[in-house]
Amino acid sequence: MLYMGTNLKMYKTIAQTIRFLEELHALTSDIDRENLKLFVIPSYTSLESARKCVPESSISLGAQNMCWESEGQFTGEISPLMLKETGVEIIEIGHSERRHVFGESDKDANRKVRAAMEHGFTALLCIGETKEQKESGISDEILSIQLKSALLGVQDIEKLWIGYEPVWAIGVNGIPASAAYADEKHAVIKSVLESLYGERGTKVPLLYGGSVNPRNATELIVQAHIDGLFIGRSAWDAKAFNGIIRDVIKTQSVQ
Ligand code: PGA
Repeated sequence: MLYMGTNLKMYKTIAQTIRFLEELHALTSDIDRENLKLFVIPSYTSLESARKCVPESSISLGAQNMCWESEGQFTGEISPLMLKETGVEIIEIGHSERRHVFGESDKDANRKVRAAMEHGFTALLCIGETKEQKESGISDEILSIQLKSALLGVQDIEKLWIGYEPVWAIGVNGIPASAAYADEKHAVIKSVLESLYGERGTKVPLLYGGSVNPRNATELIVQAHIDGLFIGRSAWDAKAFNGIIRDVIKTQSVQ
């Protein structure tokens, strides 16, 4: 299975999200979903309308964050029950911007992964080292700590995906990881998951994110340990995203 998705971050109004989804659905409708898991993670406010405008069988939807509690005195938070109501399938947890702009910890990620699993969502857990950590040569240790902390007490990993998103590679100032580097880190992630869960751990889909663009997508996807791409800026135009998806599928099919 090929996983291709985009996080819309704090971009696109409800109307813009609907236009984007309808266009993406129309452009990709001939692509067999047996082999492609296509997903979009829009703003909270767009979720309900988004779910109504395109079929789930074509595009899965996710939320960018979630509180671990079902209800309570948590002003500004959105609960699993509220998200269930909108029909989303995926919960993105621990994105670099959540960790580094809003101070979320590995402990928060753990509570959220556990809540996502309890409520039957797919948890897309994002991890990645900072530039300083990379330069200090401790990336593998950091990835291992982030994974082990976020997965503490988690037994059921059937609906777990991992997004490897090095902090230094994300966003307008990001420098994309080379395909070889990304693959090496995916191999590290796979081995940590195997150490935690045995054979089951090796089946968890691993997605790369961080300045994926039309030029590097195909090189990334052919790497042995990369199962999908999680894209920001380069996927926010439906035609551009469709182009990347088709290039990736074409490249995979000639491998
Ligand atoms: P980018 O974002 O592709 O714009 O670097 C990736 C992400 O934050 O997931």
